Parts: sequence; C-alpha cells; structure tokens
Amino acid sequence: MDRITKNQLISLSKNDFKKEFCTNCKYISLAPGRINIIGEHTDYNLGLAMPIAIDRWICVLISKREDSNFNICLSNFNKKSNIDLNSLVLDGKFNDYVIACLKIVKDNFKINKGLNILIKGNIPIGFGVSSSAALEVSLLAGLLKAYDIKHDLSSILMLSNSVENNYLGINSGILDQYASLYSKKNEPLLIDFSNSTHVYVENNISNSEWVLINSMVNRELVNSKYNERVKECSKGLILINKKLHSKKNMNELTVEDLDLIKNKKILFNRLKHVILENRRLKLMKNEIKKGNLVEIGRLLNESHSSLTNLYKVSCDEIESIINFSTACSGFYGGRIMGGGFGGCTLSLVSKECLDVFIKDVISLFYDKYQYSPKVEVVRFSDGLELK
Ligand code: GLA
Repeated sequence: MDRITKNQLISLSKNDFKKEFCTNCKYISLAPGRINIIGEHTDYNLGLAMPIAIDRWICVLISKREDSNFNICLSNFNKKSNIDLNSLVLDGKFNDYVIACLKIVKDNFKINKGLNILIKGNIPIGFGVSSSAALEVSLLAGLLKAYDIKHDLSSILMLSNSVENNYLGINSGILDQYASLYSKKNEPLLIDFSNSTHVYVENNISNSEWVLINSMVNRELVNSKYNERVKECSKGLILINKKLHSKKNMNELTVEDLDLIKNKKILFNRLKHVILENRRLKLMKNEIKKGNLVEIGRLLNESHSSLTNLYKVSCDEIESIINFSTACSGFYGGRIMGGGFGGCTLSLVSKECLDVFIKDVISLFYDKYQYSPKVEVVRFSDGLELK
C-alpha cells in the first residue's frame, strides 16, 4: 500500500473488520514504524540514538467475544486463524509475533474471553523501519485496552521488549519500540540508553525529504555478524578496564582510553565508531535545531563512512547507493540505516530535486546490478495512538 493518511488507513481497516467479523470494532490502536536519523550501533553500547516515527502504521482493530477464541485476520496477507485462549503455541510461522503478544498478556493478566482482531498496515517490510516493533506495540496496546488492564507507555515498552527477548528469542534492544511509542510529530527523539530517558529535538528542517533506498540485500542472513559486533564492543571495553584497573561503562569511554587497545585494531575501530557516533549525534541535535541542511548532510555522510570503515557493517550494494546518490543533484547526505550488512540507506534530499534524484539513483543502480532498488519517501509522525 502506498502513502495513505492515518485516517484513510483507519477507515480501510474498519471496512475490512466489518466485512470479516460482521460487526463494528470497538478498539483501535495505531503504531508507527520509524527511521533512525543518527546513532547507529549505539543502543546496546549504552549510547545515544535519534529515531522518529514515520507516516506508516500498523493498525489493530478489536471487538470482544463471549467465548474463549481469538479470531485473527491479517488483512494485508488475507490470512485468517482461529485459536483458543488456552492453546496459544508459537510454531515458527507467520503469526508468531501475534501469538507471542497474546501469550504474554494471557501469562501476566487474568483473561478468560477471546477477541476478534484485525491487523492492517502500510509499513514497508524489509526496509528496516521496524514493522515488527510497530505490530507488537499496536497489538499490545489494543489488548491492554480491550481487557481494561491498567497501562502506560513504559509498561507497553517493557512488555514488547519481553515479547522479543523471552517469547521470540530475539536479543534486541528497545530502540524500535521506544520510537513507536514515544515519538512526537516533527520532533525527533533523543534517547539516552544509559538510563533509558529521552528528550525531543527542536526541528527546523524544511524544503527537503527523507528518502529510504532499499538495496534489497537481505539482512536476516547475516544476524551473526550483528552479534559479532556486540561481542567485539564488550571485549574492547573489558580490555580497557583491565588496563586501567577501572569499571567504566561503555558510555564513559573516551578517545584517549582507546590508545590502550591501539594494537587491537578491530576492537579499537569498533569502539572509536561508538564514541564518535555519540559525539556526532550531539552535533546533529544543534544542526537540526538550526535547520542547516548542509551540516546535517555532512554528519550523515560522516556517520556512513564510520559505519563503513570502522564498524564494517556496509556492503557493495549500499556503497553504490551512497556513491550514486552523492553524484546526483539534491543530495545533502545519507548513510546506511539500521543493523547493516544490506538493508536500506537514509538520505536527506532537496524537495525540488526529489523526483529526478530518485529516478537517477534507480537508473544508475540498475545499470550496475540489473535490478531496481525500492524507494520510499517518509515523513515524520506521532507515536502510538489509541482510539
Ligand atoms: C538493529 C537493532 C537495533 C540497533 C540497530 C543498529 O536494527 O534492532 O536495536 O542496534 O540494529 O543501530
């Protein structure tokens, strides 16, 4: 589904719900996907990140039932299932995320009636904009509301994190769900992962668009590389603490400390990226406040080159997208976004040149790889909304 407004998505979802369950829905929740402007591979290193919700959502509609069945409809895929409250089992198939959310609510709260649930969204899958986090947030919020269970944003954050860690066995942080819950339209979040707090960044960017270009290189295949980076960082920290006889946390490391492991080039490079990325993020905050497109672009480019050369999470296709983008007019700057090893780039592009920019990058990429990357232009939006 292409760009549609929040209200259009709600009204399409309501129609689907009525068709599917022959009744009107009673509860609606809507949670967005996100981009991360800067602060990559910093979350698990107790650093800083700057995500914001985008104008793509997962909409969950619910009505009550008198029996103990969950009647579930994944409207985008036309998939339907019917599961009893007492036989919720994860089976490694397409609706494990849904079952895991139902199960965590069942395990933690007293519930004995089922629900009709319809899920519909317009978040592009495979772009690294957190469609699964949005699904968890939207569904959990809807379930808590429908069962009249007391909740706030932080309890939804904890539950969604636990769904991933304890039910689905994914060792992820809280960046994605945090953004889906706490975002404010037009003011990027600045999250400090050392104490899980956030502030909002004053935003005076204008005359430009945020563009995602999907290399179509599958990130799932290289999850082990992500875990390798996590380990390298903690190994570097342990070595430094040993040499300093200290107990520093990752967020307390300085560039000078890195000298102590300069003979361990890989660990040195990984930690150098983390320290400098946190610094760049603070500079980014000021430039966004000033609306200085050129400086914002320069910081994005710097972040990209650090992720490529120091953190080594890029790949040939992503490098080509950035090189082609740099050669096209209207490009202020861009970088690989998310875990890396494929996935997407995020770029800031002048509004005036947008159409030509997209056409030119796709055509240059096609000439080299004989397939077209997918492109999405995204705007900022608010976090979770319950109706
Ligand atoms: C993945 C993870 C996030 C974060 C990014 C890198 O997307 O899910 O928690 O670590 O990589 O910034």
